[in-house]
Amino acid sequence: MSAPPHRHEFRDVRLAGDGFVLRPWRRDDLEDLLAHADDPAIVRGLSDRFPHPYTREDGERFLAGDVIDLSDPVFAIEVDGHACGGIGAAPGQADRRHSAQMGYWLGQALWGRGIMTRVVALYAPWLMRELELYRLQATVLDSNPASARVLQKNGFEEEGAQRCAVVKFGVVHDLRVFAKVSPPMRRNQTDAT
Ligand SMILES: CC(C)(COP(=O)(O)OP(=O)(O)OC[C@H]1O[C@@H](n2cnc3c(N)ncnc32)[C@H](O)[C@@H]1OP(=O)(O)O)[C@@H](O)C(=O)NCCC(=O)NCCS
Repeated sequence: MSAPPHRHEFRDVRLAGDGFVLRPWRRDDLEDLLAHADDPAIVRGLSDRFPHPYTREDGERFLAGDVIDLSDPVFAIEVDGHACGGIGAAPGQADRRHSAQMGYWLGQALWGRGIMTRVVALYAPWLMRELELYRLQATVLDSNPASARVLQKNGFEEEGAQRCAVVKFGVVHDLRVFAKVSPPMRRNQTDAT
């Protein structure tokens, strides 16, 4: 069996893209976070862990690491010096340690400029290399074609749907499952058997 990926430290990561930078969230991102996150259009595509209305307390709890684990590769998307959205992934454990689940959002004022397509193009290959991932998964509500498009443009393949998996604002939704895979070398597979 191959060795488990070692514990990573992401505090000093800074990934520069075309028109944006990905870097860890900071406590002083609070005002920018509130400016972009308190928007019903954002939460429509996300899980209820992302609340609406998005209060100052919600922002403080998020930046304190009380909502999701900020020691994971969870980054702010900085545009023109301001945090305008986020992208992150939760790595699996034990026999799922070579896979991870990715999520992202962007402030509505910046939609439609190709930013998230470029963010995923930078983040996904970096993450898969960094964590030695064989699989990176993202799930998308059936009502969110823009997010599905971002994934498709980045080589994620649609594998199917978790039917009736989510109830959002009283409406039942399927969750479309997308993944990008990078299987281990054949040699490693042989080693593992
Ligand atoms: C989904 C989201 C990240 C997209 O960000 P973005 O920077 O606007 O995305 P891009 O501009 O890179 O690409 C969007 C693509 O979707 C397409 N699109 C937008 N609305 C669409 C719609 N209603 N139907 C089909 N395609 C649509 C765009 O045309 C574009 O594709 P193209 O380049 O082939 O023309 C952003 O809308 C968002 O943050 N939404 C709220 C949170 C969310 O849904 N997160 C994803 C959870 S899975």
